Amino acid sequence: MTTAPARTERLKNDPAGLARAAAILRAGGLVAFGTETVYGLGADATDGQAVARIFEAKGRPRFNPLIVHVPDAGTADAHAHVTALARRLARALWPGPLTLVLQRRTESPLSALVSAGLPTVALRVPAHDTALALLRETGRPLAAPSANASGRLSPTEAAHVLASLDGRIDAVLDSGKAAVGLESTVIDATGDMPVLLRPGGLSAEEIAEAAGAPVRQATSDPKTPASPGQLLSHYAPGLPVRLNIRTAAPGEVLVGFGPDFDAPNLSVTGDLREAASNLFGMLHGLDDPMRHSGIAVAPIPDTGLGVAINDRLRRAARR
Ligand code: TXA
Ligand code: MG
Repeated sequence: MTTAPARTERLKNDPAGLARAAAILRAGGLVAFGTETVYGLGADATDGQAVARIFEAKGRPRFNPLIVHVPDAGTADAHAHVTALARRLARALWPGPLTLVLQRRTESPLSALVSAGLPTVALRVPAHDTALALLRETGRPLAAPSANASGRLSPTEAAHVLASLDGRIDAVLDSGKAAVGLESTVIDATGDMPVLLRPGGLSAEEIAEAAGAPVRQATSDPKTPASPGQLLSHYAPGLPVRLNIRTAAPGEVLVGFGPDFDAPNLSVTGDLREAASNLFGMLHGLDDPMRHSGIAVAPIPDTGLGVAINDRLRRAARR
């Protein structure tokens, strides 16, 4: 599954189709599958390179954090610190079109890329028999944004998925029409009060009732433009970051890319997918003022996933 698939398999919603979909996902491939909200483009959330392929297939110009789908609330506990508020919401509204943003557990095997380097993770249990069967059969948490090319409408049928992603993903598991047709409501449940990060399939009233507390609106950071997806804070290292550097200044650590650079290196072979999966983990590991005065990063080609990598690096460098 290291090269882009030439053909997208159409899988039926039967035991053979489910087994094939799960096998592709476990091998690091991409499978679009129906949920009650919209079709998601799924990848093993513990496999950084598989997650990187999602961004590549969608042609996303930047890394936004992705929702991780799990089969039950118990699995959510393995990956995140489930607050009392989150427990109330999950008990009342999971499975369902509700996504909870929670603090990641340090021991969680989720790739740093699903969180775009943030200390939080967004989790959801979909209310959809096929999606739940696929999660159980795969045995891995699945990262899944809407299964459309960047800038296109969210798909509610397998045919919509194929219209923009045919030949770019390994398979689509056809489970008919998505009932809700709108993405899940995203709630920050890290504190005592629910904070609305993205309106969606469940209303603020329904969430307030389950929470026993009013839903607050997320206040957009005045430093960042209030466009969708930009509402969230972005991971930025504490150390200064300089880009397009071939030789580090004294005290700086140089993050290489490609065979001309020593370790640390985002990808010695110059593979952008590998670089994407290493990006946030490597920046975190190097962000230590006791060891370095700054982080310099080698030039990254501005093609394919390099566009998203460079977008994130520019945000990290702009201060
Ligand atoms: O209905 C849905 O939610 C669909 C189906 C496939 O389940 N999935 C979906 O996923 O829309 P995705 O990955 O495109 O949703 C990403 C949104 C971000 O725009 C952001 O609002 C929120 O989820 N999000 C994810 N991780 C976050 C985090 N760590 N902190 C804050 N918000 C986060
Ligand atoms: Mg979308």
